[in-house]
Amino acid sequence: MIIAANLKTNLTRLKTIKYIDELESFLQQNNISQEVLVFPAMSSLNQHIGNVTVGAQNAYATKNGAFTGEIGEEQLEEFSIKTILIGHSERRHVIGETQEMLVKKFNFYKELGYKIVYCVGEPLEVREAGHDKMMEYISKQYEGIDTNYENLIIAYEPVWAIGTGLTPTLEDIVAIHKELKEKSHAPLLYGGSVKVTNAKNVLALDGVDGILVGSAALYVDHFCTMIEYAQKLNK
Ligand code: PGA
Repeated sequence: MIIAANLKTNLTRLKTIKYIDELESFLQQNNISQEVLVFPAMSSLNQHIGNVTVGAQNAYATKNGAFTGEIGEEQLEEFSIKTILIGHSERRHVIGETQEMLVKKFNFYKELGYKIVYCVGEPLEVREAGHDKMMEYISKQYEGIDTNYENLIIAYEPVWAIGTGLTPTLEDIVAIHKELKEKSHAPLLYGGSVKVTNAKNVLALDGVDGILVGSAALYVDHFCTMIEYAQKLNK
């Protein structure tokens, strides 16, 4: 399974180094065979050799150039980073990235062979508009994306479940994942208020190939517990 931590705009560089070191020791001491990804804040990116894969939360679709405030492939290359998160709800809804921008980014990093964790998910008002409207909305987030890309991982993250403590019911997650699996055979993660108390149940669901965890992953011991659950299930 794939267990991913999105650290967002949290932890300093020193704290991130400590976090990844502790995580690495945990993986090695417990012979964890699951795929573990960590997306630290930009300023905490670093070279990491080991079982933890460090990825970027964002980068511009460029090698380098005049894009103030952004980083490009050259800056990722410095730390041997080959994994990137694209389309996270905070990038779409807070920063305002459009589907067009995301497709450009996706294609750029796909050409370079990056592992891409591509996020989709609906806001609350869309969910409340009913199933068809919701699937229509999510389908638009697949537009322009090569769903057969070999290094693609998709994360279904309902916007209203991110950082709120709310989650869809387990039945809803199974049903949506079933529909999303028809759009792409890529591994499909669930994200949105996953924590130690619900991770085991979510991971066990049909059509769930892993989890993308925000707030609860800030505590390395909590994140390790979730990894342990995945290891036991070993789907
Ligand atoms: P959360 O965030 O676990 O805090 O809900 C998930 C995410 O944004 O990926």
